[in-house]
Amino acid sequence: MNAKIASAGVRAFLILLTGLAVNLGGSLAWAAPPGSAWGVNYFPNVELVTQDGKKVRFYDDLIKDKVFAINFIYTRCTDSCPLETAALRKVQKALGDRMGKDVVFYSISIDGDRDKPDELKDYAERFNVGPGWTFLTGRPEDVTLLRQKLGMYRSDGQAEKALNEHGISILMGNEQAGQWIKRSPFEETKALVRVLGTRLQTKSTATLTGNHEADRVPAQSSGEALFRSNCEVCHSIGKEDGLGPGLQGVTKMRDRAWLTRWIKTPDKVLADKDPIAVDLYNRYKKILMPNLRLSDSEVEELIIYMDASSKEVKG
Ligand code: HEC
Repeated sequence: MNAKIASAGVRAFLILLTGLAVNLGGSLAWAAPPGSAWGVNYFPNVELVTQDGKKVRFYDDLIKDKVFAINFIYTRCTDSCPLETAALRKVQKALGDRMGKDVVFYSISIDGDRDKPDELKDYAERFNVGPGWTFLTGRPEDVTLLRQKLGMYRSDGQAEKALNEHGISILMGNEQAGQWIKRSPFEETKALVRVLGTRLQTKSTATLTGNHEADRVPAQSSGEALFRSNCEVCHSIGKEDGLGPGLQGVTKMRDRAWLTRWIKTPDKVLADKDPIAVDLYNRYKKILMPNLRLSDSEVEELIIYMDASSKEVKG
């Protein structure tokens, strides 16, 4: 029993250290002093519309007195957005029935001209998202203002360019406490769950899903590390499907050149109407496999890793 307590203590200390290291490592975290500009009047109370067509105000209805995660997406996005959505979906699952009660998610479209409530509803259904997660759209100028105020705006270029540079991060906050933390969707689910489930909570929340899981063995190769941060939110290397197909045996099943091209530029392969790609796309609910701008050597390392671990799984 003593040993158990000691190990819990060590773990808490390690979590604290990890938190500090992450902060020093450049993640953005700040707390607004009471009465500062980060109060009621700072946030534009713009009107947005939910996937069900309900009108809401950003400050009054979405963030006031809540703990939340916010990201910016658009449904036709072929790069990071599907990965962000997949990452949040994992966090949502880990938070379980605390979703909608202790924590809410908002995904706001930056393509308000094309993303109407119906497109958002369809997107949410394809990703099979659960309760407590709202998809929103609004007038482009209002959404731009929001992104600027939230520090999530990166480009003042032309529209298409701005769409591609919408910033790969998830903003998490506790409005009442004035605490805001920016994290990356490439991080492990557990780290994101910890921020939303514990760090940002003001009520004492003793139970944190995932807290008692053992920490994972560090990745054994760069291919494995790449797979964990870029692919695992949608794929397993087993037979089991996630948002995308289980990848066991895929290096045997597919031609190497096809595999390389697919992992590097799935959007182009699909746009070329490659029959395998079209078939997969239709079977996997028209969820786009993201183009993650991987280099040739990264793609190579990933294939080596998938090949080796498919063998292990079989054995
Ligand atoms: C947002 C989810 C998502 C992420 C992230 C993702 N994929 Fe996919 N992947 C899919 C989907 C969905 C498909 C099925 C085709 C489609 O719908 O575009 C797919 C298909 C594939 C296939 C083809 C499988 C077959 O049967 O031929 C391979 C290989 C693959 N992905 C590898 C990867 C690798 C490697 C990564 C990481 C670099 C990755 N994927 C990241 C969603 C994802």
